[in-house]
Amino acid sequence: MKKIVVAIDGPAGAGKSTIAKMVAEKIGYAYIDTGAMYRSVAWKFLQTGKEFDEDYISMLANTMVIMFKPEASVNRVFVDDHEVTEAIRSAEVTALVSKVAAIGAVREAMVDQQRRMGESGGVLMDGRDIGTVVFPNAQLKVFLTATVDERAMRRYKELIAKGQQVDLEQLKKDIASRDKQDSERAISPLRQAEDAVYLDTSDMSINQVADYIEGLVKEREQ
Ligand code: DC
Repeated sequence: MKKIVVAIDGPAGAGKSTIAKMVAEKIGYAYIDTGAMYRSVAWKFLQTGKEFDEDYISMLANTMVIMFKPEASVNRVFVDDHEVTEAIRSAEVTALVSKVAAIGAVREAMVDQQRRMGESGGVLMDGRDIGTVVFPNAQLKVFLTATVDERAMRRYKELIAKGQQVDLEQLKKDIASRDKQDSERAISPLRQAEDAVYLDTSDMSINQVADYIEGLVKEREQ
């Protein structure tokens, strides 16, 4: 049985990370959250306090070291040995990251690293362009999505559970705006690969989705 590359793409809030992490744990694959890599670049740049500057951000992306340390309940993220697991989820990073991810040189630097991380197989990688650009020959591609309303509701529940004050309508607007930025950008826009399995999870539980993907991996490993 061979260990394959599994590419999971889809819009913000479709549950990619939760699902990919669950499946990876069950089948003993590594999980690589590529969104966390773009978030790390945005975080690093925010630390400088500089005005938005594509060349400077590209330089950072090419010189910073991003590392993942998977643990039972959380996939810890480090930038130049500094833990950023929580910091990269901040509102400031979330507001900036789509602009950072639209810079060609930043994408080249991240894609290079992602290819290296996945070259031996046995990985589930989630993002926007994994099946189309990073691993166009991945043995399994899944395009995971859900309606904007459902994605906003999931995020709403998550934040309420953390004790945060949130406005559902605002969440819907933010998600729709990120969808637009991610799918309309010139370089590597969010797009379903032709050979990807399309999965609308609006009416599915997390376990149902994870079991379904696990089944697909087992089939393709043969
Ligand atoms: O999945 P996420 O919300 O953590 O992703 C953060 C941002 O990074 C999002 O705006 C899309 C972008 N991204 C990307 O352009 N390509 C990827 N492979 C992963 C994320």
